[in-house]
Amino acid sequence: MKKVLILPGDGIGPEITTQAERVLDAVNQHFNLGISTQHGLVGGAAIDVTGVPLPGETLAAATESDAILLGAVGGPKWDNLEMALRPEKGLLGLRSGLELFANLRPAILYPQLADASSLKPEIVSGLDILIVRELTGGIYFGQPRGIRTLNDGERQGYNTYVYSESEIERIGRVAFEAAQKRGGKLCSIDKHNVLEVTVLWREVMDRLAPEYPDVQLSHMYVDNAAMQLVRAPKQFDVMVTGNMFGDILSDCAAMLTGSIGMLPSASLDANNKGMYEPVHGSAPDIAGQDLANPLATILSVSMMLRYSFGAVDAAAAIEQAVSSVLNQGVRTGDILSEGCEKTGTRGMGDAVVKELIQALSEV
Ligand code: NAD
Ligand code: IPM
Ligand code: MN
Repeated sequence: MKKVLILPGDGIGPEITTQAERVLDAVNQHFNLGISTQHGLVGGAAIDVTGVPLPGETLAAATESDAILLGAVGGPKWDNLEMALRPEKGLLGLRSGLELFANLRPAILYPQLADASSLKPEIVSGLDILIVRELTGGIYFGQPRGIRTLNDGERQGYNTYVYSESEIERIGRVAFEAAQKRGGKLCSIDKHNVLEVTVLWREVMDRLAPEYPDVQLSHMYVDNAAMQLVRAPKQFDVMVTGNMFGDILSDCAAMLTGSIGMLPSASLDANNKGMYEPVHGSAPDIAGQDLANPLATILSVSMMLRYSFGAVDAAAAIEQAVSSVLNQGVRTGDILSEGCEKTGTRGMGDAVVKELIQALSEV
């Protein structure tokens, strides 16, 4: 039996994971994948019940499971808690506790959504890029960190941006290998002109390059990369970068696909054990109103099937069902365009499940 732990989290998390779980159940049955699911608490939902964002029981269940599906964590209710007890620490604790250092964030524009993007259709049509984000190091985890009081009584906040060569090398290899399987182009994003940590980052990427002669490596500063993503995003194939730059650039890339509600992600360890989650957050502004787009989470299930379970047919069936539903003009509010039918979170889940079951019964 393959074990999947579902962690709905906060805000829209429970709504979107419910729909994604229905999709997972449908392919599990049809393809006889032998997946069993179990639910757990993380983030604010865990704080409310246990007082901490990542209960030991959740970390233990995550460690024992073969893959994890996470909704999102965080929200105004918990925003004033001290840093160590915030919902986001639950997510960060899972990432570091499970050593999920490789975060893959593909930004693919479904042609049906060319009008939904805030950019001109010709700029985004055919877009298919992959952001490889280092996820367990960098300024997110560097020590020392904190807020201290100086001698004159003024307070100072500080974090440490640090990467060791081995951390850079392992994410670099993931990115080079991904580029080999895709268009053969890798752009490493850094701030080599200002930050020593990224001088080392660039040096390690350059050192790896000869081992991957079929990949063309280039480098770009992060500020330019943000601009280029909006100016001419199709110049990119695979982008590799550190934790914080990757966080920012992936939200930017999300908008190219029409909505942040479309972007899935996989966070993998060295053995392809993974946690799968949408790139977006808990969207407190629309939570509990059946407004959230569940497709990023549904597509995260597809990434799970591909990366953790090698169930390529099941993954492709989900992607095809999503595409068919978009062809039918079914849209949540975030990707709505003229002449389309507006639906809610549940309605989108219904449409994908219906399409999936219909397509599978025809095979
Ligand atoms: P957010 O991604 O939650 O929301 C940004 C905007 O995008 C909002 O207007 C929201 O309504 C919209 N949006 C997001 N997902 C959507 C979806 N599926 N369908 C339609 N619209 C969607 O980012 P934020 O507002 O900066 O953060 C809210 C909370 O989420 C914070 O507590 C933050 O820490 C947390 N967060 C969690 C994760 C995660 O769990 N992986 C990621 C990002 C932010
Ligand atoms: C993401 C989120 C997280 C991050 C937060 C919620 C800790 O923004 O997954 O992109 O910054 O990594
Ligand atoms: Mn983010």
